[in-house]
Amino acid sequence: PNATTASALPRTIAHRGLSARAPENTLTAVREAKRAGCDWVELDVQLLGDGTPVIWHDNGVRRCSNTRGKLAKLTLDKARALDVGSWFHKDCAGEPMATLEEMLALIGSLDMGLNLELKVNRGRSGQALVDTALPMALKALPAEQLVVSCFDVQTLSAARAFQRDAELLRIGLLYDKLPAGWRKEAERLDAFSLHLNWRKLKKKDARDIKDAGYALFCYTPNDPIAFQPIWDWGVDGVISDDPALFTQYLPDGKP
Ligand code: G3P
Ligand code: MG
Repeated sequence: PNATTASALPRTIAHRGLSARAPENTLTAVREAKRAGCDWVELDVQLLGDGTPVIWHDNGVRRCSNTRGKLAKLTLDKARALDVGSWFHKDCAGEPMATLEEMLALIGSLDMGLNLELKVNRGRSGQALVDTALPMALKALPAEQLVVSCFDVQTLSAARAFQRDAELLRIGLLYDKLPAGWRKEAERLDAFSLHLNWRKLKKKDARDIKDAGYALFCYTPNDPIAFQPIWDWGVDGVISDDPALFTQYLPDGKP
């Protein structure tokens, strides 16, 4: 693994870090992904109540910490006091919530690639998240080691408005099921990739996406045998909780 590997299109991306083996979206989960031979991670970013961008998936903190409450109500001090590891395993007790800033520093130092998912809660605007998180990510990582994705098209439009050069900002459109209007959205955003729920992906959709010239990633397959036929549809990479499972099932055996 080196800069060349992280710059190439990843076959496997560790979902929320190596979330099968470490508490999701933590520094440990990213270190573990690297140790397992995975050069790319997918991580979720959102803002605390005081505007600090942190690596976190849910609206609330109940599932992945030792307390409950809404993330958007926390200040950095309060968020840092949480234990976001022991819910996963007692040996992970004391793991702190990662700020985007420290996570970017770690990813840079490990020379990894990052699929940063802008997590926009239902009904909220992603503009503040774009304004805060995007400049940090663009400054910390080379353009070919970053893909910024989101389910919310308006937020992606804000990201594209921030950086209009598609070579300098690679945008990934996240969909559950591919909607009829995907081409227009992808063109408007000058998108780099589409990221689709593998269980809802159809062969024809995959072909259309590849024919249109976009990279195609699937989330979140954790069963390499069930996924195997889908590689032939032209999928570039999988975003999996445990990428090592896929190693021997990759189309040409190369990670
Ligand atoms: O980015 C792919 C995947 O992470 C999207 O769903 O809920 O796991 O963030 P979710
Ligand atoms: Mg995600």
